[in-house]
Amino acid sequence: MVSVPEVSRPETSDVDEIRVDPIAAQPHFHRTESRIAVAGHPIHAMLVAFPIALTMCTLGADGFYWWTGDGFWARAALWSSGMAFLFGVAAGLAGTVELLLVPGIRARAASWTHFVLAVMLLSILGANWGYRLTGYEQAVLPWGLLLSVLAAGFTGVTGWHGGKLVFDYHLGTSSTGKA
Ligand code: HEM
Repeated sequence: MVSVPEVSRPETSDVDEIRVDPIAAQPHFHRTESRIAVAGHPIHAMLVAFPIALTMCTLGADGFYWWTGDGFWARAALWSSGMAFLFGVAAGLAGTVELLLVPGIRARAASWTHFVLAVMLLSILGANWGYRLTGYEQAVLPWGLLLSVLAAGFTGVTGWHGGKLVFDYHLGTSSTGKA
């Protein structure tokens, strides 16, 4: 008769030990409070409204230029695309300092995903503005308009993902506030 070797099963406590997530086990994993903030309110969250709104304004102005042929809209798109880029860089700087300084934000992969998305978005915003500086009226059709469509789509994805950081992972939020 063939003897079957007995398989040793780990104790429950061993299983628990194996399942420990080394990232979540870091001592500062739950320290996610904003450091770049005014009275606990993250400056990044205050600034992102500007590039988001201005990017949508640029798309709208391009659309109106296409529809009416009025040079006013091409000039409006030049200014809104420039301001979208500059406010985007300012928001990005506040977000990057936050990312590097706050251990619980730095430890989460989702924060870095947001950073990569945001840097891609800032490159598109910069291209959309820079291209118009060579002649803002000729720049709109077709490439200015297409860049604006791409920028609007990327803004939607990056903004949605930023919201996920706050509302799903509670990054930048304070746990000490009173209700
Ligand atoms: C370039 C680097 C960026 C980094 C490192 C970064 C990082 C962060 C972090 C850590 C948060 C959590 C809240 C906080 O701690 O402030 C956040 C939230 C957010 N981010 Fe960014 N971000 C960057 C750029 C951008 C850009 C360009 C946009 C524009 C679309 C954006 C949109 C958002 C939004 C909408 C939120 C949620 C804000 C709220 O609802 O309170 N981020 N980001």
